[in-house]
Amino acid sequence: MGSTRKFFVRKHEWSEIKDRILGAYLRPYLAKICRTGKAVRIADCFAGKGRFDDGKDGSPIIVRQAIDEQLQHTPGASIQGVFIENKYVEDLRRNLPEDEHVHILEGDYEERMDHFIATYDARNKNLFLYVDPYGIKSLRMAHFKAVAAMPFYTAEVLINFNAHGFLREGCRLMKIAVLDGEPLQEEYEPDVNSPDNLDAIAGGDYWRPIVKTYYKTHDFHAAEDALVVNYTRELRQVFKHVIQFPIKVKLTHIARYRMIYGTNHEDGLLLMADNMNKRWCEFRDKVRPQGVLFEMDFPEMQACVTDVDVEKCILDSLDERKTLNALLVCLVDTFGVCFSTSELKDRMKKLEKDNKLGVVRLPAKNESGKAYRGWDHTGRGGYQVFVERSAQWQQNLL
Ligand SMILES: C[S@@+](CC[C@H](N)C(=O)[O-])C[C@H]1O[C@@H](n2cnc3c(N)ncnc32)[C@H](O)[C@@H]1O
Repeated sequence: MGSTRKFFVRKHEWSEIKDRILGAYLRPYLAKICRTGKAVRIADCFAGKGRFDDGKDGSPIIVRQAIDEQLQHTPGASIQGVFIENKYVEDLRRNLPEDEHVHILEGDYEERMDHFIATYDARNKNLFLYVDPYGIKSLRMAHFKAVAAMPFYTAEVLINFNAHGFLREGCRLMKIAVLDGEPLQEEYEPDVNSPDNLDAIAGGDYWRPIVKTYYKTHDFHAAEDALVVNYTRELRQVFKHVIQFPIKVKLTHIARYRMIYGTNHEDGLLLMADNMNKRWCEFRDKVRPQGVLFEMDFPEMQACVTDVDVEKCILDSLDERKTLNALLVCLVDTFGVCFSTSELKDRMKKLEKDNKLGVVRLPAKNESGKAYRGWDHTGRGGYQVFVERSAQWQQNLL
């Protein structure tokens, strides 16, 4: 891959966002997981050099820092970072000294994964899999399926999915020309050798009709969206909850890649949704005042989601009383990372004010007899919040 030779020369803005998503999630993730008292393994499957040539931290250092911070709070915790790299392993060893919490594995991700799936004793362990390849050729949906089927206490993935590159490969292998005007990312190089391999990467052949539609419409953007919708749907057969974050250079550009997160755990989902939402808000606030130089199109639906849609979804989800946590999960499953949990709670507060939503806190009062009024969904406030459609409010049945 000629163009990938330059990858570590300097860290690009889009890699910074990707790394912030990783780093900001790992801290609360580790804090939460360590409360289970069970071992945690963080596998950085395409680890790279550890540090970029401009001195900026790569994912291995970010993972290491998160582990060290957690160990300060829970010194005896069994936390290990495992770092797989096939080319820059010497750089990685220099930048990331090994110890009881850091293990570097030289070799190919594909082989390491096969071995791991076949031999690893997953019982009573938690796994966070970070999969950050250059392109798509090493990805296999079957690996994610197999990992999810292992008896981990919890297992989740964060995948860098280059849907744009996938589509180019799909067009090439189906002998459909991509129009000259379509954007071409510098990392893209043809390297998947058969349509069957693309099926294995995607976990199905749903990409073929998408490529054929592109042939008729020449709408690469729509094809990329459709591919991501289908890929996340496929991943939802593996993990209960899947959310994604498109990383772009400019608003009108196609996503460079998608960060796709899959989990079976509601707390993880809400943490990651807030994290991804915050990363976008930070970014938008940073670039907007100087004029839009580098902008990220927010998850597709944001432009067409209105307050009315959100309020309707809240009320429609409450066919029975739910915990606030469960309701937030329904909303994130529906709206992805368009809203933070606090924005969603603001919508609920409005509905409560309008007498459409009833809120119950259990216990209702604290030890000194003061009524709980908060909207803490984590249960850490000492009370649990339940929400229901209020008895006075009847849905319009027509
Ligand atoms: C996108 S870079 C990873 C960047 C890294 N996550 C970071 O944030 O610094 C991909 C890395 O995976 C390595 N790599 C590529 N194919 C691999 C494979 N099949 N198995 C293991 N490592 C691979 C490359 O040498 C490269 O260092």
